Amino acid sequence: MRILIVGAGGRLGAALVREFDGKFQVTGLNRTQLDLSDLGAVREKLGNSGFDVLINAAGFTKVDLCETQPDRAFLINAEAPRVLAEICGEKSFRLIHFSSRRKKCAGCARPESRSPRLLGFWTGSSEFYRCND
Ligand SMILES: NC(=O)c1ccc[n+]([C@@H]2O[C@H](COP(=O)([O-])OP(=O)(O)OC[C@H]3O[C@@H](n4cnc5c(N)ncnc54)[C@H](OP(=O)(O)O)[C@@H]3O)[C@@H](O)[C@H]2O)c1
Repeated sequence: MRILIVGAGGRLGAALVREFDGKFQVTGLNRTQLDLSDLGAVREKLGNSGFDVLINAAGFTKVDLCETQPDRAFLINAEAPRVLAEICGEKSFRLIHFSSRRKKCAGCARPESRSPRLLGFWTGSSEFYRCND
């Protein structure tokens, strides 16, 4: 099985590369090798790649910067995963996406949701996911 790990330079991505190395055909891409903020480059690079499973361990995880750079946060944490899902859907590859349950929700009064939905539930807002509540 060919596993492609995006965000391989991060804590989770690096741990996954270490865990899968030798067990599967694993390739890790760090931000220098694949920048999720460049959606065109993501489409071009991954659209021409062969793999069975794509694991997205990348994320704009600096919470304070997400507050001050919401457009960038939405691009990397929402739009890019959407593009990854589209690529995987088109090619019938499996996608595993990691995120956090500590997402702010635009649709309920709680400051944070315990049950965020992933992929396909965009609000149209540039800042927030909508949760299940
Ligand atoms: N660690 C945990 O305990 C934990 C718990 C729950 C959920 N998660 C989720 O798991 C995911 C990974 O967490 P982590 O702890 O491994 O975070 P991390 O160490 O901050 O790793 C995130 C990685 O994403 C990369 N990245 C940032 N912007 C990027 C871009 N534009 N294109 C490509 N890569 C980009 C970072 O690269 P640079 O370093 O070069 O910026 C970094 O290598 C996140 O979605 C996080 O919310 C983690």
